[in-house]
Amino acid sequence: MRFRTLTLLGSTGSIGRQTIDVLRLFRREIELVGLSAGGSNIGLLAEQAIEFQPRMLHVGDPQRASELRAALAGRWDGTLLVGDEGLVEIAGSAPADLVLVATVGWTGLEPALAAIGAGRSIALANKEALVCGGHLVTRALAETGSLILPVDSEHNAIFQCLQASPNAPLRRMILTCSGGPYRQATREEIAVAGPERTLRHPTWSMGSKITVDSATLMNKGFEVIEAHHLFAVPYEKIQVVIHPQSTIHSMVEFVDGSILAQLGQTDMRLPIQYALTWPSRRPTITPPLDFRKLANLTFDEPDMERFPALAMAYEAGRQGGSAPCVLNAANEVAVRMHLEGRIPCGGIAEVLAAVMARHDVSTHPELDDLRQWDQWGRAMATEAAAKCAVLPGR
Ligand SMILES: NC(=O)c1ccc[n+]([C@@H]2O[C@H](COP(=O)([O-])OP(=O)(O)OC[C@H]3O[C@@H](n4cnc5c(N)ncnc54)[C@H](OP(=O)(O)O)[C@@H]3O)[C@@H](O)[C@H]2O)c1
Repeated sequence: MRFRTLTLLGSTGSIGRQTIDVLRLFRREIELVGLSAGGSNIGLLAEQAIEFQPRMLHVGDPQRASELRAALAGRWDGTLLVGDEGLVEIAGSAPADLVLVATVGWTGLEPALAAIGAGRSIALANKEALVCGGHLVTRALAETGSLILPVDSEHNAIFQCLQASPNAPLRRMILTCSGGPYRQATREEIAVAGPERTLRHPTWSMGSKITVDSATLMNKGFEVIEAHHLFAVPYEKIQVVIHPQSTIHSMVEFVDGSILAQLGQTDMRLPIQYALTWPSRRPTITPPLDFRKLANLTFDEPDMERFPALAMAYEAGRQGGSAPCVLNAANEVAVRMHLEGRIPCGGIAEVLAAVMARHDVSTHPELDDLRQWDQWGRAMATEAAAKCAVLPGR
């Protein structure tokens, strides 16, 4: 195992909690030196801090810091950081050789850059960091020689497949996609669907934002952009295939027509463990895949008409510059409004289309420019959502 010390950002979320499960298996080998969460679950953050005794701790919401201090009194001793600046500080200054970024949305980009800038390698669950600022992350990695290990199951699968022939030319990179809860729904049904139905994901149990993104296929669109930056593959070589069983996590096809696929249980602890223990392979607690239960594996093409967010992500990725960052900002606002029951699922794509139609792409934005584009995208999306159809029955 190459990494011995870890900082975990987003420790109370779906990925964060599963990372903690994996860490319990490797307590003697990996020391958790930094721990961070937003603050909506102070009890869990305090429990994690007491169990793992990190040297540095961070809570995003400054209002919750005193509650955290009280919960930890006499049971943890270290440096407590707060707020957005604290998140960037813990990413760059906790003495970790690997930083696992599992916050959600735009919040991942700045700590990821801070960690890389300080010479740490990163394990990336937060795909939005590469969506918003892929060119900045790639440049920072080249400058510092830090590594990036993908945690997202599809990219982790591709990372594993590529190790068979690391420099061989590719014909295609194939990202599999469950199709989400609306795989068989009509456009009319999606147009009026509420959050309860959107959150019923058929194969994965995840945080609410990524679950909504999985229903609109924006998650897959973001993964296309993520794959483009992680593996330096042009968009025309990245294909999305609907595979409802989620057993094949993704594939690569080399120019000689050979396709390598990575298969496994639908359990995020597997890719998390591979990122933490890379390049070694260690025993898992996940039960083996029972092939008898897999009557058949099926594949289909995504329908861009019913899932316009996927097409918009390809388009924004190809445009580059500020386009993916604005798309992400608008999507964050639209997803939140859908979760709050203010717009139906179909309204998300409406908001995105309205915002992207007003956006003049700026090429080569730096971090400061992206911060402004993020704010602009949010403001435009709030305006667009106000004109959107309301959710029936609300
Ligand atoms: N879940 C999955 O299976 C999965 C799979 C592949 C990729 N991903 C990606 O991984 C990322 C995390 O997803 P998730 O499903 O784990 O999300 P989640 O369950 O919503 O968890 C988000 C985490 O980020 C924390 N957080 C929010 N704002 C923060 C801030 N300002 N500072 C520090 N921490 C903050 C939250 O803390 P509090 O809740 O305590 O406030 C929580 O711990 C996303 O980018 C997602 O796309 C997830």
